[in-house]
Amino acid sequence: MAVMRSALLWASRNRWLAQQFPRYRFARAAVRRFMPGTTVDAALDASERFVPAGIGAIFTRLGENLTEFEAATRVVEHYVDVIDRIAKRNVPAQISVKLTQLGLDISEDGATRNLITLAAHAAAGGNVVWVDMEDSSYVDRTLAVFRAALAVHRNVGLCTQSYLMRTEKDLESLLQETCAIRLVKGAYNEPPAVAFAKKSDVDKNYLRLARMSLQASRTIPDTPRPVMGTHDSALLARIARAADQDGVARDGWEIHMLYGISSKEQLRLAQDGRKVRVLISYGEEWFPWYVRRLAERPANVWFVVRSLFMR
Ligand code: FDA
Repeated sequence: MAVMRSALLWASRNRWLAQQFPRYRFARAAVRRFMPGTTVDAALDASERFVPAGIGAIFTRLGENLTEFEAATRVVEHYVDVIDRIAKRNVPAQISVKLTQLGLDISEDGATRNLITLAAHAAAGGNVVWVDMEDSSYVDRTLAVFRAALAVHRNVGLCTQSYLMRTEKDLESLLQETCAIRLVKGAYNEPPAVAFAKKSDVDKNYLRLARMSLQASRTIPDTPRPVMGTHDSALLARIARAADQDGVARDGWEIHMLYGISSKEQLRLAQDGRKVRVLISYGEEWFPWYVRRLAERPANVWFVVRSLFMR
């Protein structure tokens, strides 16, 4: 399984495959399992279907590592429009962005300006902007850009990854800054020098970091609700027990999951009184993101193979 995961994560960064694979109809059909469509309208429509269950949404347009700043400017214009559409359709939705989509590979200052523009626009409508965490080579720059935006607008939240050994220290200082944190396990191919190699260590660290976040939400005034971005039900059950023991209210933390993964569990948790959001991706640039989803559960590859024969 580890070999398959590494191979898939290698493939997720292959430009030739990124050009070829989406050309096949079976590939486009298979990806539909994880995204309702390529347009923001498809994402908005999907989010409305979650409203009766009390589940909120987060939208993200796929695409990363932009090489021209002009393209990053267009991404900002796109998200400004998305924030307006969220308000117009009155859906409980937020946005989540990758900094390399805002031009981080070209200019750190430019990416910072872009994030501040989005945060300002979201703040005007009472909304928030989440910042994804990319591979470990981006963590320092992501923290710097995030902190620069946080100094101007409080409505930004950051994703942190439990597979990185450095995250405990990063989280310690971020929690003192009372910002919104979404904790995930981490989706990239990382060397053992920076990331836990064993899944059990990643999970153990997740629980430790989750407890740190929950405790901070109780003890540090104005700390936003901690967010657990995971589909790991056993881990979520342990976090819920820890939250109860620590006296954190039932709605004192949130659970975020991806569209199309653990869908029944999303509904069950919402019915159980938990605060749940679903991250809905859309856009044409889905290849690297989709292959990371396959790598998370190599059994998904059989789903792709099945799609090939069910054309
Ligand atoms: P784990 O991988 O242990 O899976 C637990 C169970 O969930 C599996 O047994 C399976 O049942 C189900 N499952 C998980 N992934 C599946 C899949 N692809 N297909 C089918 N079933 C699956 N990563 C990152 O590096 N930077 C980021 O910014 C983000 N952002 C982000 C936001 C949100 C809201 C979520 C939910 C996740 C991310 N991630 C991320 C991805 C994250 O790092 C991680 O790769 C996935 O969430 C899968 O890990 P789990 O925590 O679900 O656990």
